Amino acid sequence: MGAYEDAFTRSVSDPEGFWGQAAQGISWYRPPERVLDDSDSPFTRWFVGGELNTCYNAVDRHVESGRGGQPALVYDSPVTDTLRRLTYAELRDEVARFAGALAAQGVTRGDTVVIYMPMVPEAVVAMLACARLGAVHSVVFGGFAAKELAKRVDDARPTLLVTASCGIEAGRVVEYMPLVDRALQVAEHPPSTCVVLQRPQAPAELTEGRDLDWHEVVADAEPADCVPVAATDPLYILYTSGTTGRPKGIVRDNGGHAVAMRWSLENVYDVHPGDVWWTYSDVGWVVGHSYIVYAPLLTGCTTVVFEGKPVGTPDAGAFWRVIAEHGVKALFTAPTAFRAIKQADPKGELLADHDLAGFRMLFLAGERLDPDTYHWASELLQRPVIDHWWQTETAWAIVANPMGIEPLRIKPGSATKPVPGYDVRVLTEEGDPADAGQDGMLTVKLPLPPGTMTTLWNDDERFVEDYFSVYPGYYFTEDGGKIDEDGYVWVLGRVDDVMNVAGHRLSTGAMEEVLADHPDVAEAAVFGVADEMKGQMPVGLVVLSAGVERDTAEISAELSAKVRDEVGAIAALKDIRVVDRLPKTRSGKILRAPMRDIADGKEIDVPSTIEDPDVLDEVRGALGELASREG
Ligand code: COA
Ligand code: AMP
Repeated sequence: MGAYEDAFTRSVSDPEGFWGQAAQGISWYRPPERVLDDSDSPFTRWFVGGELNTCYNAVDRHVESGRGGQPALVYDSPVTDTLRRLTYAELRDEVARFAGALAAQGVTRGDTVVIYMPMVPEAVVAMLACARLGAVHSVVFGGFAAKELAKRVDDARPTLLVTASCGIEAGRVVEYMPLVDRALQVAEHPPSTCVVLQRPQAPAELTEGRDLDWHEVVADAEPADCVPVAATDPLYILYTSGTTGRPKGIVRDNGGHAVAMRWSLENVYDVHPGDVWWTYSDVGWVVGHSYIVYAPLLTGCTTVVFEGKPVGTPDAGAFWRVIAEHGVKALFTAPTAFRAIKQADPKGELLADHDLAGFRMLFLAGERLDPDTYHWASELLQRPVIDHWWQTETAWAIVANPMGIEPLRIKPGSATKPVPGYDVRVLTEEGDPADAGQDGMLTVKLPLPPGTMTTLWNDDERFVEDYFSVYPGYYFTEDGGKIDEDGYVWVLGRVDDVMNVAGHRLSTGAMEEVLADHPDVAEAAVFGVADEMKGQMPVGLVVLSAGVERDTAEISAELSAKVRDEVGAIAALKDIRVVDRLPKTRSGKILRAPMRDIADGKEIDVPSTIEDPDVLDEVRGALGELASREG
């Protein structure tokens, strides 16, 4: 039996033994009494009775064990022309002081704190400071605007909000305070205090009595110590898109998460203490939480925090420069970033200017890795290019090539094999096991391993309903796929209406809500259509209210601006078309899948529940050139 098969078999036949051993990679104030408590499945509890502090493990522990002088974080920001290195000792001091500042504002164990920040080291400091106090952070991606921020604030009900005066997109300064002001005006449960990091590119006007200047509160603060918390206490909430406009608050615990992060970086990514590791994503996404912040710091690596883009800051050689300049061993990003580089520099000529001698591997996830992009990247880099599949819900890879255990043969288009801990099964729609090679629903037989979500914030019922009721005894991933004769997993994509644009998970429902709120719109449907660069792009179809006779191009432009204004620039709903009717089931549910298939130029299965199949011809007409693309 190979090392991978051995590890996988142990992880499913003896999860307590397997994860009990992995837990030794973490420092506990009190060791767990039980590794696994599955008595209330699917509310699986890991490391019950254990006490730890995640920030202690990510920062202080390394200083105490002699890594104080090693860079913990390298901040590389071509958009502000800044390079800053923070050693573990410096990071500990910054985090302890900011934690002290939060404590002085009344933040205490179990409180929630919303963090709405760009890619600056202070975002990482704020997250770790919350962890230090046993407070629960909820980071909201900076590309979301006021309405989405308000939804998250209302669900998380933070004691305090941490933000910055601005973010910097290529060629554009995004002022955060007007968005925060609006969000807190419409929120029903706004926090009474905001801590604002003033950035010189666009300092903000602070609101008296509510806003405090980051630097001032830190200057007055006493450093705070790490607060021991239960392994099962929440570390963070991260909102992700479901199909409705109401985001799901994924809850992550402290103990299981710390163990899984530490284990996965070494075993999946083959990255070890002292290595330089770079994840190009954003702290607002799960990839950022897990692999910009927690896994590399828990492991004692140097993590690169990059505030820029793969292209345009200043050119498509940015990735090669960062890898060479900081001695990056492995890079993790989404395939879209590589498609953007390929489009700007098809032959990868800019690579020649940089020495990538220390670079070992490229990891890609977040969306499908198309074989073209795989071949382009692996031929250019002459290094392993590793696809892996996971979700916000899991925090780490479900299926991957376990490079730290045993590199397996690559089959382009497949994310390789189930990672130890994840007993992946393909089920038919009826819930029967699928045959090898047969398409079905990707599920994971319970229990899920440590680090995966423990519930949805304030919503145990939705947690059970959305993920565990479709196939009792299994976690339903909402992705379709198959497992071939060799045990390789092929992910075919979402079976729900969630979109994946440039590796970002977006909700159709959130955009539909905004469209339907416009006085001229009676009904709206949004769906993702295939896009060569970004994987998918959103397209909207709207039915106008009776009697509206305005110019439809004008209405579409207004709607597009409204979505950008309320959901955020990241929503990028630029293609909105007017139709007379939308396809619906007889019970009135909008059928997005056949519209998506028409736009993707695919054969459509006309659903038997459709009220009037002729509507699909009208949709085909409205989609015009999109519908005539090759599938
Ligand atoms: N704050 C404010 N606005 C933001 C933002 C943020 N944090 N992130 C993105 N936006 C804006 C962008 O500026 C853009 O605005 P525009 O319409 O005015 O140009 C819009 O949201 C859409 O962003 P995006 O889809 O990212 O397109 P882009 O043209 O800015 O960049 C890529 C294209 C390919 C360079 C970029 O999508 C990328 O690097 N993707 C890699 C994937 C990735 O990081 N995934 C994260 C999960 S792993
Ligand atoms: P998120 O929760 O934002 O990380 O998005 C998770 C979704 O992204 C998954 O459910 C998949 O649909 C998609 N995804 C992530 N990684 C991959 C991959 N390697 N291949 C195909 N789809 C992926």
